[in-house]
Amino acid sequence: MRLTNKRIYLDYNSTSPLAPSVKEWLAKGDFVFANPASVHTSGKQTNRYINETSEYLCHLFGNSTAQFELLFHSGGTEGINTFIKGFAAQKQLEGQAIDFYYTSTDHSSVKATAKYLADRGHRTHIIPVDSNGNFDDQILIEKMNQSPGPVLYNFTSVNNETGVQFKLQRAEKIKEATGCKVHVDAVQAIGKVEGWQALSEGLDAYTFSAHKFGAMKGVGFSFFKKQFQFLPLIEGGGQQNGHRAGTENAMGIYSVFLALREMVESQQLVKLKEAKELFEDRFLNLVGTKGQIIAHTGSRNSNTTNLILDGINSQTSAAAFDMAGIDVSIGPACSSGVNEPSPVLLAMGYSEQQALSALRLSFSPYFDNIELDHTWQAVSNVLTGLIK
Ligand SMILES: Cc1ncc(COP(=O)(O)O)c(C=O)c1O
Repeated sequence: MRLTNKRIYLDYNSTSPLAPSVKEWLAKGDFVFANPASVHTSGKQTNRYINETSEYLCHLFGNSTAQFELLFHSGGTEGINTFIKGFAAQKQLEGQAIDFYYTSTDHSSVKATAKYLADRGHRTHIIPVDSNGNFDDQILIEKMNQSPGPVLYNFTSVNNETGVQFKLQRAEKIKEATGCKVHVDAVQAIGKVEGWQALSEGLDAYTFSAHKFGAMKGVGFSFFKKQFQFLPLIEGGGQQNGHRAGTENAMGIYSVFLALREMVESQQLVKLKEAKELFEDRFLNLVGTKGQIIAHTGSRNSNTTNLILDGINSQTSAAAFDMAGIDVSIGPACSSGVNEPSPVLLAMGYSEQQALSALRLSFSPYFDNIELDHTWQAVSNVLTGLIK
């Protein structure tokens, strides 16, 4: 049984433990330290770590025609802020306000950025979803085509709370029908959906975050089309072709290379999918009418189960899991410690009481039927105690 921190860790959408190859490398302690922009030999050594990672990423994500430029940054939140604010700022400079579209279930960094745009005179549009987290493409296309300004669309390929998945082909079609620009929030895609490493060349930018797939925290990367124009969020020394100033986090960047290479070599997505589906079958059999799985009949990714236990507040159930050595998540973190209903579940039409009874279990990309048996034994013991 793979234990993390001596616990059954089922919160991989929140963050992941370091991949073994990253841990081994860190344990060696032979770190590069020099500034990658320095012309001396030590600087060049650091730069080699960054270049090796860049080459690997371009190869892995099929950027063979070099249509995209690669940008390193501090993670998903920064990538999202960079492209959304940067595009709007570029258009504002040209005298235009933009029309920004995003889904009601998008990550809080998208919603906060939308508010920032609205406060500065841009138009923002929330796309409503149904109980499967899905939206109507035709209505969206019609609305976009009536928008007066340049349209930017944030397309979240995998939702962090529910695992609801939107395929890139959908965004391509919407772009074809409207001419909008598309930023893909692909933070939750790596190792969790089929074809996660395929970039559609029709779309404009993609953002990924290292700590979601076993690399270090505080680092991320984006691919963006060379023609996609945006003003930089961070200005200064002109690093990364002026798109993001600041000395690159070379070690964090290299950890991206190690963790991704390990995932490509050893992860088996079919095993994860099968084990998660078996887990969900067992859950539904056990709880019967006392529970449900969110967006159960919708299109979802391979590692996320968001479940509702009727009438049991998620703080109570999460505490029971915690006591049993199992880490699960309960909706949005709240500084006051008070359990608040998840805006994502409310947006999908679940009641406040249901949203307050939801628990998210997100499995390791390496979860399989062998781990399932041990995990299910521990999880079902807690569930049986809760629903009796
Ligand atoms: C879908 C999605 N977008 C963006 C982010 C923000 O990523 P980061 O934690 O790297 O800032 C997250 C993190 O949970 C996420 O799940």
